[in-house]
Amino acid sequence: CETDKVQKYLEPFRLSLEKLQEVSVRLRKDMKRGLGKHTHHKAPVKMLPTFVRATPDGTEQGDFLALDLGGTNFRVLHVRISEEEKKVIKMDSQICAIPQEIMLGPGVQLFDHIAACLSEFLDSQNLKGQTLPLGFTFSFPCEQKEIDKSILIRWTKGFNCSGVEGEDVVKLLKEAIQRRGDYNIGSVAMVNDTVGTMMSCGYRDQSCEIGMIIGTGTNACYMEEMKNVKRVEGEDGRMCINTEWGGFGDDGALSDIHTQADKEVDKTSINPGVHIFEKMISGMYLGEIVRLVLLDLTKEKLLFKGEVSEALTTPGKFETKFISEIEEPDNGLENAKKILTELDLKWNLVDARVVRLVCDTISSRSARLCAAALATIAKRICDNRGLEHLKTTVGVDGTVYRKHPNFSDELQEVVHLLAPKCEIKFLVSEDGSGKGAAMVTAVAQRPATKELGQTAFSFQQG
Ligand code: BGC
Repeated sequence: CETDKVQKYLEPFRLSLEKLQEVSVRLRKDMKRGLGKHTHHKAPVKMLPTFVRATPDGTEQGDFLALDLGGTNFRVLHVRISEEEKKVIKMDSQICAIPQEIMLGPGVQLFDHIAACLSEFLDSQNLKGQTLPLGFTFSFPCEQKEIDKSILIRWTKGFNCSGVEGEDVVKLLKEAIQRRGDYNIGSVAMVNDTVGTMMSCGYRDQSCEIGMIIGTGTNACYMEEMKNVKRVEGEDGRMCINTEWGGFGDDGALSDIHTQADKEVDKTSINPGVHIFEKMISGMYLGEIVRLVLLDLTKEKLLFKGEVSEALTTPGKFETKFISEIEEPDNGLENAKKILTELDLKWNLVDARVVRLVCDTISSRSARLCAAALATIAKRICDNRGLEHLKTTVGVDGTVYRKHPNFSDELQEVVHLLAPKCEIKFLVSEDGSGKGAAMVTAVAQRPATKELGQTAFSFQQG
């Protein structure tokens, strides 16, 4: 009887295939709004042009610096693309922590911190005398004006530095480097992590034309027909579009599946009201959704004999990585017991099983929502090209996709059910945010592209 009550409580988190189809239809409409010349201003799914017009062709080469900001850490990398070996080699890299006070402080302080980390890295690599081109993976929604001009629309994922929204991020980086005056950088290419992921996978598999991230945040990009990108002049060829699907639902389009726990997570986040879809899916929020559900079930006396602990009532104490540990096929139950003990909860075996069920329900909802969104993109590519059948590859990255024991299986299975005419291969990216940024920079400089008089990138917005 108690289990029935738990199951009933969890019902709103279970999304049927029919519901996912409905969600997909809504996203399809919103993607169209985001692409439209007169509708994009108000569109919750931003569909941002990236000015990347070509995927790698194997002729790329050279040495690059890459910066990666947007997850939990900031990284600096030295990357070599070797044409002979057909390889992207990470020569070296360094991780710099970004303390919370910098994540929430003035933008100038953030960019000074980035410039200082880069300086330290260049010293350690003896690279200060060289002027290397730099790929900057900046994983936030940006209105890209050119490949090296990118205006931050809004912060997401726990960042909230003042004075950066509405500003050109490349300019802020260059100014910070100038303030130091101890080194120079070459041309800069701005890259969203989804684009880096698509491009790094594209080097290995040339049919890769979708990039997807399910990590701290979530998002996807794909190659769209230029004729549909109404905000950029030109009808020929394709351009990579950064969908920023995390913003889906910001206008209430998902209110029928937005539960009380989702509302609470949104309300207590540092950016309430925005990135609603992301907050139902990504690693930054999944643990917190589970904690709120467990807290509610405890208050309903369906868990821990109705006794909460301080940890259970404290936001952030139930980490997203616990979900993966608790759902592990072999040791999951044992892990659950350990975690519940650490959270000071007085559990019995039934409690441990219920906690596992809650984790499974929340992570499964996340995988299914991602599947619905990915199926929408795949079907759009298929329709764009008037194909009966589409064969394509998705480059994927992100801790949730990589680390959760059955997330990727469920996602793939559901995409197949929702888009049966699309045969999708999933390729886990090898460091898309690092190597991929170098690849975007390299494609921009590709001699083959220049000789043919084509532009892999365009430098102006129409
Ligand atoms: C950002 C995207 C990014 C995604 C994954 C989201 O919060 O808005 O730009 O691609 O996180 O890192």
